[in-house]
Amino acid sequence: MRTPIIGGNWKMNKTLKEAVNTARELKEKLGNIRGVEVVIFPPFTALKSVKEVIEGTNIGLGAQNMYWEKGGAYTGEISPFMLLDVGCKYVILGHSERRQYFGETDQGINKKLKAALSLGITPVVCVGEKIEERKGGKARQIVDRQIRGCFKEITPEEAKRIVVAYEPIWAIGTGETATPEQAEEMHLFIRNILKELFGKEVSNSLQIQYGGSVKPNNIKELMEKEDIDGALVGGASLKANSFAEIIKKI
Ligand code: 13P
Repeated sequence: MRTPIIGGNWKMNKTLKEAVNTARELKEKLGNIRGVEVVIFPPFTALKSVKEVIEGTNIGLGAQNMYWEKGGAYTGEISPFMLLDVGCKYVILGHSERRQYFGETDQGINKKLKAALSLGITPVVCVGEKIEERKGGKARQIVDRQIRGCFKEITPEEAKRIVVAYEPIWAIGTGETATPEQAEEMHLFIRNILKELFGKEVSNSLQIQYGGSVKPNNIKELMEKEDIDGALVGGASLKANSFAEIIKKI
């Protein structure tokens, strides 16, 4: 069976002090929670301090992005080594906001994915369609292309260590969650592509998270679905209260 995984993507929010306080509160509320993988993704500037707070707990640390090169003249970028150095075990790759506002492509995400895997960082690879794509009946086609593009030249051994996040763009920050049926349909579709690419054993073991307006009041019905293995939470992860509530409902 797949362990559920809940991520809190803080996006471009929180000063150092706010981040540390939220992490402290979360640690208090969760104690040494078991049976669920919990990961928080603070902004880069808070990674080290948050790591110090959650050290020794079951809460994992991740970054929201990284570059694929290991170092060098890439002004403004962060390398996977730098993430390891501050205690990150996870990294979000290809979030729709990165694709939308910063021109990230499946090809670039694929390079980042390979770099993360080569250094033992668990990548959380995001895919998802826009509202017009869904309305035009193209949602599957888009997600299919994103999965195949991002996973190009990845071996089944490597694929085992990846987490996929299905985040329909129309559900992000809008309060309009995909219905559990809509989400499950796409999760199953994704799992079938992964099966074709990496075989049954790997596709059965891969965790696929849902993201997009996940709240304490809708997590349970989403998690009841067979192929939904967790959630990547934005807004509701910013407060320790609501994030802990979501986790405790798993
Ligand atoms: P919201 O939960 O705010 O809709 O954000 C989802 C998301 O983008 C997580 O990565």
